[in-house]
Amino acid sequence: MKNIKIATIPGDGIGKEVVPAATEVLKAVSEVHGGLAFDFTDFPYSCEYYLEHGDMMPEDGLERLKDFDSIFLGAVGNVNLVPDHISLWGLLIKIRREFEQVINIRPAKVMSGVQSPLVNPNDFDLIVVRENSEGEYSSVGGRIYRGEDEIAIQNGIFSRKGTERAMRFAFELASNRKKHVTSATKSNGIYHSMPFWDEVFKDVSKDYPDITTDSQHIDALAAFFVTHPEKFDVIVASNLFGDILTDLGAGIMGSVGIAPAANINVNGKYPSMFEPVHGSAPDIIGKGIANPIGQIWTAKMMLDHFGEEELGTVLLDVIESTTHDRILTPDIGGKHTTREVTDEIIKRLKAK
Ligand code: NAD
Ligand code: IPM
Ligand code: MN
Repeated sequence: MKNIKIATIPGDGIGKEVVPAATEVLKAVSEVHGGLAFDFTDFPYSCEYYLEHGDMMPEDGLERLKDFDSIFLGAVGNVNLVPDHISLWGLLIKIRREFEQVINIRPAKVMSGVQSPLVNPNDFDLIVVRENSEGEYSSVGGRIYRGEDEIAIQNGIFSRKGTERAMRFAFELASNRKKHVTSATKSNGIYHSMPFWDEVFKDVSKDYPDITTDSQHIDALAAFFVTHPEKFDVIVASNLFGDILTDLGAGIMGSVGIAPAANINVNGKYPSMFEPVHGSAPDIIGKGIANPIGQIWTAKMMLDHFGEEELGTVLLDVIESTTHDRILTPDIGGKHTTREVTDEIIKRLKAK
């Protein structure tokens, strides 16, 4: 029996609704596949936890998480309780960084039965490899002066190691797909980091002669996502550009509620973390209508990560059969609840 130890952190808002839904689905997966068992341990780290304890997690929080096989997280953020930069840097970004989850893989494709705003939705099937540990997300900088002379300085950090690592990951991924990598740049406007990014991309691409490449400025790339999605297969992007592109991708999929993601620790020293693209969705908390598919598809990425690709494929097929039959939450044009979509996925899984 393969026993997988998972730390669940529902976090805030609809994280508390979609994480339990997806863990129920994972339990059903283990029932279907006799040789696999999940052992879930729940951690209450969230903005409410902050109000009670003065921090997003205890001092030894990382120590408590580090021996799990993976972390399954919902969403973090409740601006009514804690400012976002405090809650996110105290939990989500802290885990990504301290556990060296340097790559964020974010697939995006249009699913059967889900209406995309694109004219040719079937051409939209790609993966964004987002650099996940540095770039524009940095705490280097500061605020000086006061009043009308006040200045905020925000530095971006682009190391050769981190940049190259993200790019190599993208090239390796592309070698099992359509053998094309697009680099998201902005070297026309950003003076230091982006010309450096282009240089590293050119260097790395020399090691992958079988893979074709192109480089697009992020603004034009955003437009091409919509007008020419067939041009793209694997896109490598810096931390911020990857963040924005993947919400755009999610919008093209039909809703940010269905987009999955995986924060990968590539050196094997720490657990990886699986967490969908969307946030805590404050506008729909407690209504029972949060789309659980982003979190469940993210669970599929976790299965793949554990080498259970066959099961992962079964799960994704089941998800897509429910969307195909239009069992949909309101964000993608349906009338079903989180509960109903989850129950339907579990029922279909058990019938496999
Ligand atoms: P959001 O993704 O939470 O919500 C944007 C819109 O998408 C909202 O209208 C919301 O209702 C909808 N939506 C999101 N997920 C959905 C789902 N599963 N089903 C149906 N509709 C869904 O983004 P935001 O409003 O910018 O952020 C809200 C909070 O979440 C903020 O505190 C933000 O910092 C945080 N956030 C956290 C994460 C994370 O922890 N990974 C990611 C993004 C945002
Ligand atoms: C995401 C989120 C986070 C990010 C925020 C909440 C810090 O938007 O995971 O996409 O920008 O990485
Ligand atoms: Mn985001």
